[in-house]
Amino acid sequence: MKWIGVLSLVALSECLVTIPLIKIKSMRENLRRRDLLKDFLEKHPYRLSSKFYKQSNSEVTYEPMRNYLDLYYVGNISIGTPPQEFKVIFDTGSADLWVPSTYCSSKACTTHNVFDPRLSSTFRSTRQRIRLIYGSGIMSGFLGYDNVQIGSLVVVSQAFGLSQKESNKSFENGTFDGILGLAYPNIAFRGSTPIFDNLWKQGLISQNIFAFYLSSNNKKRSVVLFGGVDPSYYKGDLKWVPVTQRGFWQISMDSISMNGKIIACKSGCQAIVDTGTSLVIGPNDPILEILKTINAQPISSGEYIVNCSSVDTLPDTIFTINGIKYPVPASAYIQKYNSDICYSNFEGMVANSDVWILGDVFLRMYFTVFDRANDRIGLAPVVI
Ligand SMILES: *[C@@H]1O[C@H](CO)[C@@H](O)[C@H](O)[C@H]1NC(C)=O
Ligand SMILES: *[C@@H]1O[C@H](CO)[C@@H](O)[C@H](O)[C@H]1NC(C)=O
Ligand SMILES: *[C@@H]1O[C@H](CO)[C@@H](O)[C@H](O)[C@H]1NC(C)=O
Ligand SMILES: *[C@@H]1O[C@H](CO)[C@@H](O)[C@H](O)[C@H]1NC(C)=O
Repeated sequence: MKWIGVLSLVALSECLVTIPLIKIKSMRENLRRRDLLKDFLEKHPYRLSSKFYKQSNSEVTYEPMRNYLDLYYVGNISIGTPPQEFKVIFDTGSADLWVPSTYCSSKACTTHNVFDPRLSSTFRSTRQRIRLIYGSGIMSGFLGYDNVQIGSLVVVSQAFGLSQKESNKSFENGTFDGILGLAYPNIAFRGSTPIFDNLWKQGLISQNIFAFYLSSNNKKRSVVLFGGVDPSYYKGDLKWVPVTQRGFWQISMDSISMNGKIIACKSGCQAIVDTGTSLVIGPNDPILEILKTINAQPISSGEYIVNCSSVDTLPDTIFTINGIKYPVPASAYIQKYNSDICYSNFEGMVANSDVWILGDVFLRMYFTVFDRANDRIGLAPVVI
């Protein structure tokens, strides 16, 4: 539930109790993330990800995404006729699609691509207002319908939000224009049909599933797959976990252990699998227990750091789900800032909720299949 940089796109209005929606991070934290991002963008201009992506499996649509500093993953879509292009986060923690519009004067809209409905011959407007609240920001605007293209797939007459206002802080400096939600329709805005449901209903995909491969450091291209899986991204077999509540992609977790001891989620807990959240987020007390185990120290921004020279000796954090152990090593749950400062990638929940959020820190280790046909999630270790 942090600011720019560490992103949480869990749709808050429906879950995780109410307010306080957003924990305002200290200026230092903001500066740190911002500097990192600026640096990164200068060193990695766009050509990095502009290679043609080879389709190895004709049944599956590969939508490439770019990894921004391990904070979020962004892919291209287009809306309207002729197409207008946008960069969006493919977010399993929410169910709506929205992009900035020409009717928006928020700072966040002046720095991003905006949709101009007057330039699209297939656009259909409504008077319906839309307002979406995320862990990291708020947008409001109105609902429209138009054709939306993801890779080679064109969804006809897709409902989407055209923003008129966006909270300044969260979306302003993001390298994405909008958000494309992939959660279940019952958390979509007032019964509008999410884009994945339309991909299936309009017969554009052959299986009612999608899957994520989130790379570390762009070594291999990050990708979201629509309509199937590609075993070249993972090792061994997929292990399946039933969805416990169809809204978020929510599952039961057995326990969390370190050093052979269960240290959190002791009598089982619920977890949301969320590609739109950067870190692993949990209830405050268990998170503190984990931080104590890795000897992390709080700093004034509220974050926790560890001595970088200890990272090699820190134990794996093991998430046990449906009887299977999913280890996450220190190299994944610690973010190295420089040779002296290493940040913990665990964060306590702002809202008073018992639900864990398994974000990108976890998902970079495990290829993840979201199976709408059987209401289950498949996990297998990634091929790096
Ligand atoms: C998105 O489009 C831009 C501009 O056309 C391109 O440079 C970039 O590589 C694309 N991003 C991805 C993830 O393919
Ligand atoms: C958001 O941006 C607008 C325009 O730049 C500004 O007037 C307003 O004060 C900002 N709001 C916040 C909360 O920063
Ligand atoms: C966004 O970036 C601009 C320019 O670097 C900066 O002035 C502004 O404070 C940033 N906003 C946030 C919320 O970090
Ligand atoms: C980190 O650990 C090393 C080796 O134990 C030690 O020499 C160094 O002083 C520690 N650094 C900090 C900032 O505590």
